[in-house]
Amino acid sequence: KEIKLFCPATIANLSCGFDVLGLCLDNAGDEMIVRKVDQKGVRITKIVGADLPLETEKNVSGVAALAMLEAYERDFSAIAIGIEIEIYKNIKAGSGIGSSAASSAGAVFGINELLGRPYSRKDLVQFAMQGEKLASGNAHADNVAPALLGGFTLVRSYDPLDIIRIDSPEELYATVVHPQIELKTSDARSVLKQNVSLKSAIMQWGNVGGLVAGLYTKDYELIGRSLHDEIVEPLRSVLIPGFDQIKKTAYENGALGSGISGSGPSIFALSRGKETADQIAKAMSEVYEKMNLPYEIHVSKIN
Ligand code: HSE
Repeated sequence: KEIKLFCPATIANLSCGFDVLGLCLDNAGDEMIVRKVDQKGVRITKIVGADLPLETEKNVSGVAALAMLEAYERDFSAIAIGIEIEIYKNIKAGSGIGSSAASSAGAVFGINELLGRPYSRKDLVQFAMQGEKLASGNAHADNVAPALLGGFTLVRSYDPLDIIRIDSPEELYATVVHPQIELKTSDARSVLKQNVSLKSAIMQWGNVGGLVAGLYTKDYELIGRSLHDEIVEPLRSVLIPGFDQIKKTAYENGALGSGISGSGPSIFALSRGKETADQIAKAMSEVYEKMNLPYEIHVSKIN
């Protein structure tokens, strides 16, 4: 018994929503095969496209799978089962579009299907978060939640975990450019300050509310006005080559908003309609071509 999965890339934070907002891309991601076998335990049998550890405890898919099976045996008084995982990576590690989340979410989603769906998709988030903890030292859920639930998601609370799926308008597209450098989430987190001023916090929660309201009411202008980050972007953007120019180019070519994708170095822009998203992709490409910097670019519907 096996299942073949598409494990989508995701954009976390969306400027104002550090560690709480995320969205799912529909055409960028990895593939994975999850198989139920007789030999008990979790084994990663194959990884193609990336140099990642096969040892279960050192692999984000393995750790997420172990967390889930441990809970499954406890919650359902089930006997131990055996799982094999094959991973075909397309999303580069340290790219800022949820590479570790795709692998963590894929593993637990696949196992859940093979077991007859004992858990809801929201339940699965807590297991996938263990993979994120291994990857970055922090069990953030803003990539694994959209990878598992699709669309836009909000982590309303971490303790207790409360994940909300947010409606979004049909014509919303994302353009994501990845300058080909690797930026580890743990490094991009180490530049952050542990305290924020009340003034910045007021702007940030105003924008989070504005973005969520804009998504529900299909108010593209409001979505655009709310894509602003007072707290994290100023500290991280210096780590990303050409950041200011790419962002400026995105706005000049019709983006509703633009910012760092997850912990970077990828940069995203949201726009209304595919034509604008394609135009932004072209303009962003020209910026990195002029800088002689290799890049990868995706235009994706939010799904
Ligand atoms: N919220 C996380 C961070 C996402 O920005 O560190 C990492 O992809």
